[in-house]
Amino acid sequence: MQIAVVGCGYLGAVLSAVLAEQGNSVIGLDVDDMRVSQLNSGIAPFYEPEFDSVLQQSISSGRLSFTTNAEKISDAEIVFICVGTPQSQNTNAADLSQLWAAADAIAPHLAPNAIVVGRSTVPVGTAAKLESRINKKSGRKYSIVWNPEFLREGLAIGDTRTPDRIVIGTNNDFAENKLRELYAPQLAKQIPMLVLDVPTAELVKVSANAFLATKISFINAIAEVADLTGADIVQLADAIGLDSRIGRKFLAAGVGFGGGCLPKDIRAFIASSNELGSESINRLLSEVDQINLGQRDRVVNLAREILGEVKGKKIAVLGAAFKPNSDDVRDSPALEVAHMLHRLSALVFVHDPKALINARAKFPDLNYQTDLNQVFKDCDLVLHLTEWQQYRDLDPDQLRTLVDKPFIIDGRNVLDFAAWRNAGWQITGLGKRD
Ligand code: UGA
Repeated sequence: MQIAVVGCGYLGAVLSAVLAEQGNSVIGLDVDDMRVSQLNSGIAPFYEPEFDSVLQQSISSGRLSFTTNAEKISDAEIVFICVGTPQSQNTNAADLSQLWAAADAIAPHLAPNAIVVGRSTVPVGTAAKLESRINKKSGRKYSIVWNPEFLREGLAIGDTRTPDRIVIGTNNDFAENKLRELYAPQLAKQIPMLVLDVPTAELVKVSANAFLATKISFINAIAEVADLTGADIVQLADAIGLDSRIGRKFLAAGVGFGGGCLPKDIRAFIASSNELGSESINRLLSEVDQINLGQRDRVVNLAREILGEVKGKKIAVLGAAFKPNSDDVRDSPALEVAHMLHRLSALVFVHDPKALINARAKFPDLNYQTDLNQVFKDCDLVLHLTEWQQYRDLDPDQLRTLVDKPFIIDGRNVLDFAAWRNAGWQITGLGKRD
């Protein structure tokens, strides 16, 4: 099929490459010249496992290219809108300006039978507004479909090829059939497709992210009780997670969630629910947000407890990305903690296998190190805040020789506590005992 993807950030670039890999002819449209030329040269503008090779193969096949010229979408049978919907500068609400700009850019060039499919994360009711805007600008009648994405950074290629489910919001049979045709490879793998009305499809996405965020803050709240009672949060999560109604995933207590999605999505959900007059979401998700941000303070307070005064102390921070296998530092708990300690006049040295360029651009005042031994050398405290495999594989015996004061806080509760203790380290987690 002829496909256009509008907005070639994380979501759009990955979707374009995978749809081309599956045999479609895809044009990616973006306003950023530099990004478009990078992508056309097969260079990934962000770190994502497997993405480079899928991108390069799709480009070499001749089925994928990128452009800044909106006229090029005129042959597309399906036009996906994948632009960013970040948090507004001064409020919690989603900033939809990229969505409106995309609508205005494509409306005059849409083929008469084109199907416009929204994929960005938006407040419920946005599709209806987008539809009237596109119809007004184009002078035609398009019915907008909502097809939310659920991909995770670090696992984006696999999640796009084989998602847990496909959600389509539409009441238009022609559009539904076109999307069934496009998603035939997924449907052949028995991946469930749910065809819903448009507001339900929009709400599915924000609800899914809100639930995931709630699960994390729930376990972090219990971790606080675990710390006060000598219970172990990891063993507890294993035990409650074995209940199939609860499940073990997203019960990893620690420094909390970050990234470009969960934090801004729960805030946008609070803002849009307030507008609609629903108070419950506000009460629930405001707590989720507060508990999450409080985890960053907990790590800083633990550091202060261990060190007494943090001023002038050398603190090694392992991790800058908001999660492993990503170079994304948006709302990264690790970097925020590093920055908070820097503001308390600690000498903070940050290491990350992939995210240092982005981290430096965000917090130029922190010290960044690519050599792990240098980060550890003579430090007063180590904070493990992003659980890259490389950190799990560290050798505590060898690292013990580099420091006089062997203190480490495992802000992700994944290190082998016994091995670190046996090597002479004093190791502390968040709600974790052993
Ligand atoms: C999230 C959702 O998981 C995706 O389904 C969704 O498509 C995406 O947002 C989006 O809206 O685009 P992502 O932001 O890539 O994906 O990351 P997650 O894997 O959800 O992790 C989010 C944060 O939660 C990370 O900082 C992670 O370290 C933290 N986390 C995760 C925990 O603190 N504990 C856990 O048990 C799990």
